[in-house]
Amino acid sequence: LGQIKTADDQPGLATYDPGFVNTASCRSSVTYIDGEKGVLEYRGYPIEQLAEKSTFLEVSYLLIYGELPTKEQYDQWVHEITYHTYVHENVKSFMQGFRYDAHPMGMLMASVGALSTFYPEASDIQDPANRHIQTVRMIAKMPTLGAWAFRHAQGKPYIYPDNDLSYTENFLSMLFKMSEHRYDADPRLAKALDVLFILHADHEQNCSTNAVRSVGSSQVDPYSAVAAGIGALFGPLHGGANEAVLRMLRRIGTKENIPSFIKGVKDGNERLMGFGHRVYKNYDPRAKIIKKACDDVFEVTGVNPLLEIAQELEKIALEDEYFVKRKLYPNVDFYSGLIYEAFQFPPEMFTVLFAIGRTPGWLAQWGELIQDKDQKIARPKQIYTGDRTLTFTPAEERW
Ligand code: ACO
Repeated sequence: LGQIKTADDQPGLATYDPGFVNTASCRSSVTYIDGEKGVLEYRGYPIEQLAEKSTFLEVSYLLIYGELPTKEQYDQWVHEITYHTYVHENVKSFMQGFRYDAHPMGMLMASVGALSTFYPEASDIQDPANRHIQTVRMIAKMPTLGAWAFRHAQGKPYIYPDNDLSYTENFLSMLFKMSEHRYDADPRLAKALDVLFILHADHEQNCSTNAVRSVGSSQVDPYSAVAAGIGALFGPLHGGANEAVLRMLRRIGTKENIPSFIKGVKDGNERLMGFGHRVYKNYDPRAKIIKKACDDVFEVTGVNPLLEIAQELEKIALEDEYFVKRKLYPNVDFYSGLIYEAFQFPPEMFTVLFAIGRTPGWLAQWGELIQDKDQKIARPKQIYTGDRTLTFTPAEERW
């Protein structure tokens, strides 16, 4: 570590905090979490109330503009987002050039980054009107890009947006439409997807948001900053846990195998995926809401047989001293994979859904960063551990 700065030529005090576990990188009024009590609030509103009574687009407005919209503001917001869902035809051609089996997250990350070349004015980040239009564009176009990445992997033609539909109905239409007739999603599925988007909309300084802020602090355009966030979310330690839960449930296979599985976890052979959280030392409030959404979705799609195993696992774990002592409770990923599978999404698409939901959070945090006069370019210190003052010998003398 460094030492207390006593003179200009002294390095000063430095902390060594890999992963910023104990270091606040910014001040923010977007999202509040109390992990001990299992509280999550967006702009002061409890997640439970927003999930039950609001919509994803209203929550997006709240996150980005800091307060709930008036009726006029909401109508205008929905109108703007609805009419920016189309993307330039060249973006479509660009996406069609990906390999037939390209991962949809790779396609999403690349195409969002490419949008900066279609909207070069986006680099004028100090202009609030400009920030607004880029924000609208990004929220509007994300489902189009995500759905096209999904269709690409299936070798199916890309479906254009249907702007007579709601945000989630339109997304479902672009994903699953199979004829020239209008695709009418079951409203219960559209609502459940809307709730899932709300639950993922922000989670303060997680890895991808930190990436958006870090890249955004260079004052680059928001498409480039959000593309960096998508890259961070792509990693298995961030966006990929729900897929691991599904694999685990399949491996357990029947309720009878649960005790031996739990014994293996307690012996330290593996982890109970979808349990535990760095911040929540109580039930993740999002997991509670998702558990309830399972019922609505399974009413339409039929029950996923893995649900029974998940519920039994939860029951046993919540009463077991090992998990109780370590404050290990279900997190957001414990039930979300089951729902996504019921929608017939392949596991590679789970993180794309997460990215669409997280987009307003990334943009809210990016907008806050740009307007924070105290914010500096992200440039952490390091503790150098390499050699010093070596003498270079040219290649022809070394070889
Ligand atoms: N199953 C069994 N034991 C666990 C689990 C688990 N899922 N999670 C933590 N533990 C145990 C650890 O073995 C450790 O026990 P010990 O004190 O006897 O050594 C103790 O609980 C503390 O664990 P840490 O790894 O120090 O906790 P940390 O806060 O660093 O990890 C994490 C949090 C990574 C989420 C962890 O709980 C985990 O791996 N969970 C499973 C994966 C998962 O569900 N990830 C999704 C998180 S939500 C999200 O990212 C959107």
